[in-house]
Amino acid sequence: MRIVRLTDEPDPVARWREIEAIFFASSATTEFPSAAVRATFFDTWTGYYRTEEPDRILLALASDGSLAGYLTGCANSLAAEQLFRDIELYAVFEDLFAAFPAHLHVNCRPDQRGRGVGGALVDAFVEECRREGIPGVHVVTAVDARNVSFYRRHGFTHAVTRRWGKDRDLLFLGKPLTD
Ligand SMILES: CC(C)(COP(=O)(O)OP(=O)(O)OC[C@H]1O[C@@H](n2cnc3c(N)ncnc32)[C@H](O)[C@@H]1OP(=O)(O)O)[C@@H](O)C(=O)NCCC(=O)NCCS
Repeated sequence: MRIVRLTDEPDPVARWREIEAIFFASSATTEFPSAAVRATFFDTWTGYYRTEEPDRILLALASDGSLAGYLTGCANSLAAEQLFRDIELYAVFEDLFAAFPAHLHVNCRPDQRGRGVGGALVDAFVEECRREGIPGVHVVTAVDARNVSFYRRHGFTHAVTRRWGKDRDLLFLGKPLTD
């Protein structure tokens, strides 16, 4: 397995189709009333990263060259106006963004999970943030998600839980990058 940057790939459009397949294989929402709604959903969660921070999109390639996993990231969550606009729950943890400005989303192909692929992507992103002097990175997940143990193992230990809507308990996990 090796980590590459989407923007260094010879055919980023083909890679983007692989990203889309993994995105939907990982999404909690699986039913869509139409192809257009499905496309809008994908764009809401990935469009910002693709157009505004493409250099931060990291790919993990399996030994056969196929996409094993990907990571999309943002260096300054407070400055990402499009995400505030498009993602309703984005502002729930806004007060914590100054201490943990960067955030990421990571997904692995189902047959590639549990082999360290996601960890390698997260470590590469975190190292880039550290080199840039960013003071912290965060993720937002659900309190009962299986990935919580994964993030905690990778140092995302600053945990804050907040209720969103009627019954969704969101979990903010921050990793400080200052020693
Ligand atoms: C979470 C994820 C990115 C971790 O990457 P990975 O390469 O599988 O992780 P590692 O091999 O380094 O670590 C194993 C951890 O991954 C997670 N994991 C492994 N297989 C998984 C699976 N089939 N489904 C969901 N999570 C899984 C678990 O948290 C596991 O830790 P555990 O053994 O304590 O349960 C990856 O499993 C995945 O894509 N999961 C589904 C989508 C997801 O939850 N994305 C994060 C959204 S916030």
